[in-house]
Amino acid sequence: MPVILGIESSCDDTSAAVYSDGVMLSNIIANQAIHEAYGGVVPELASRVHQQNIVPAVQQALINAKIRKNDIDAVAFTRGPGLLGSLLVGVSFAKAFALAKNLPLIEVNHMQAHILAHFIDEPKPTFPFLCLTVSGGHTQIVLVKDYFDMEIVGQTQDDAAGEAMDKTSKILGLPYPGGPLIDKHARLGNPDAYPFPEPQIPGYNFSFSGLKTSILYFIQNNVAKNPNFIAENLNDICASVEKRIVTILLNKLTKAAHAYGIKDVALAGGVSANTGLRLGLQQLGAKHGWNTFIPAIQYCTDNAGMIAVAGYYKYLQGDFTDQHVAPLARMPF
Ligand code: KG4
Ligand code: ZN
Repeated sequence: MPVILGIESSCDDTSAAVYSDGVMLSNIIANQAIHEAYGGVVPELASRVHQQNIVPAVQQALINAKIRKNDIDAVAFTRGPGLLGSLLVGVSFAKAFALAKNLPLIEVNHMQAHILAHFIDEPKPTFPFLCLTVSGGHTQIVLVKDYFDMEIVGQTQDDAAGEAMDKTSKILGLPYPGGPLIDKHARLGNPDAYPFPEPQIPGYNFSFSGLKTSILYFIQNNVAKNPNFIAENLNDICASVEKRIVTILLNKLTKAAHAYGIKDVALAGGVSANTGLRLGLQQLGAKHGWNTFIPAIQYCTDNAGMIAVAGYYKYLQGDFTDQHVAPLARMPF
């Protein structure tokens, strides 16, 4: 069984993981707190902090996995999509490591890896399955026919679901990233307090920009009448926003599952850490007789574990890349 070192640096998390023999031996994630002060990820700063974090993250991943550099059989890394300056750090590290140790290199698509996180732990979905991949930059319904045979059947036409969470939290004066805070406050509020509109978008596509605008106007109008509106109603606002985002996502997913006759339905990406979305999918699964799959929280948000497992399946197929590989800010499946 090969030992795979996974490297992830597409956005603001520097991560290194070791996967072997069906077991994730380590999965180290170094977050970058520096962006909080700016209310969002600053690409130039992200790149610099990746440079500081990458070597310690890999060293810690080897220590936790109880292996030495010479035990590694291949290096898998995120080639894209993501922030170019951030990707460059992980790609350069992986190339240098592979060159020094004479190891094969495996390039991984970050969005495919979010989906392949379902092959880390049991139970694993069976092909074909549908995966709703929801992150800070993407919102996709993907028909997964095989490990690397995936078709996007629906996607957002503007903002991503995570962006809708983060922008709402910014309007509410909460720090970045706001998704986890909306989740926290939503647990304490009434999801039916404020019924935000559901956009009517054809097919399995999404749009979140209209919702964002209606939330902004709603808050501005209410704050004009009562300056303490946000503080007095924060939990109800978060619960209502979360409910709307979750119902938009799950209504489209249900439509696609019926159209494609799919019974195995999965969630992936950072927003799949959301409590309301996780519960919502489980309830839908019980109602429609689906098998539902939701990754452990550490494999929902950006992590190198998913890169290592994707690399493992590419290793089995003999799908390697070479030292000429360069990162891609946009990278189709
Ligand atoms: O996949 P990810 O870690 O990074 C990207 O590839 O974008 O996703 C990050 C997104 C952010 O928008 C963050 O606010 C959101 O996932 N997120 C959540 C939760 N945890 C992370 N959104 C809602 N509820 C959460 N618990
Ligand atoms: Zn991601």
